[in-house]
Amino acid sequence: MNPLFSQPAASLYFGSLSETGFEKILQQQYPHSRFVLLTDENVAEHWSEFMVTGFEILSRAEIIVLPAGEENKNLEICQSVWEALSEYEIGRGDVIINIGGGMITDLGGFVASTFKRGVRFINIPTSLLAQVDASVGGKTGVDLGPFKNQVGLFAEPDLVFLDPGFLETLPQNQIRSGFAEMLKHGLVADAAYWKKLKTVKPENTAEIVPYIEQSVRLKKAIVEQDYAETGLRKTLNFGHTIGHALEGYFLNKENPLLHGYAVGLGIIAESYISLKKGLLSEVEFNEIEAVCKTHFGESLAEKPIAEELLKLMQNDKKNAGGKINFSLLKGIGNCVFDQQVERGLILESLQYLNA
Ligand SMILES: NC(=O)c1ccc[n+]([C@@H]2O[C@H](COP(=O)([O-])OP(=O)(O)OC[C@H]3O[C@@H](n4cnc5c(N)ncnc54)[C@H](O)[C@@H]3O)[C@@H](O)[C@H]2O)c1
Repeated sequence: MNPLFSQPAASLYFGSLSETGFEKILQQQYPHSRFVLLTDENVAEHWSEFMVTGFEILSRAEIIVLPAGEENKNLEICQSVWEALSEYEIGRGDVIINIGGGMITDLGGFVASTFKRGVRFINIPTSLLAQVDASVGGKTGVDLGPFKNQVGLFAEPDLVFLDPGFLETLPQNQIRSGFAEMLKHGLVADAAYWKKLKTVKPENTAEIVPYIEQSVRLKKAIVEQDYAETGLRKTLNFGHTIGHALEGYFLNKENPLLHGYAVGLGIIAESYISLKKGLLSEVEFNEIEAVCKTHFGESLAEKPIAEELLKLMQNDKKNAGGKINFSLLKGIGNCVFDQQVERGLILESLQYLNA
């Protein structure tokens, strides 16, 4: 089967692994390679047997299973994977298959592209978030303490397989988490898409599946115009300046906040800032807030301390010249980037969230 489209380096296939000819592609592209499956404990429980028994080419693959969760997306875990790869005598001719959510594809891509100066890797994203967002754009990396994605590099997988079948075993809160990024795609780039999505019930996975491809296409169209994130790609950070701070704040607490829930709340706060800056109408703001509150409104176990969130934001990679940079909505379906927002208004938006 032909890839749906080609990224700068990665080819992306949409559909079940067997429909897309996964095994045949591997046989043709890597006739002499050894394979390593990198996954986490939850995905391994449901899918590792399926992978090694379902595809002859993977029957002798090495399997590395990591503890699940964002708190494990760190350099210590990377080191354990590098050591395992070394023990298995994996070389540049071999292939690492990252099968899991965004934590695995981000960490696995980073580990692969730095091991022995770069081993080829394939991504099989198994969460909705990883399918609609992390699957495109070549960002790999890990967190540094509470600071998200501080160490990493742009590196393209050889191939990406987007198989919605993996979502069958994904917990409901994780589906909702991925849904936040889909809503964001509509808000920043396509008002008609937002209009469709706002009536979708993410608790019914079947309702979401038909939209996955559209989200991927929207993200891809943006990334293709600005791979290095010097301009347009920054619009994809809408909701993430405050979202990442919230995610970092709760990372090592009793109730960590899922990425998408943090982004859902970040969307509300950053839409509030857009409203106060006169970029978004009251009607549009109310609509966005109502949709995001329905899906993510109940997710904060405690009220975060606004000053601490500000401190986290000051470390955001998107900042320049010591100023916190935002991407803000200029009407639904349109986004402006490199917007500096005064401290007082950021605090006001956080208080609005906390109210
Ligand atoms: N590289 C990028 O462009 C990009 C974009 C967005 C997000 N991210 C990163 O992705 C991460 C969040 O992604 P995520 O939400 O997928 O996190 P995750 O990888 O932690 O997965 C979420 C949970 O779902 C489980 N899971 C995944 N697939 C499953 C399946 N099919 N069945 C059962 N359980 C399954 C995982 O074990 C985990 O417990 C963050 O680290 C974020 O920074 C990266």
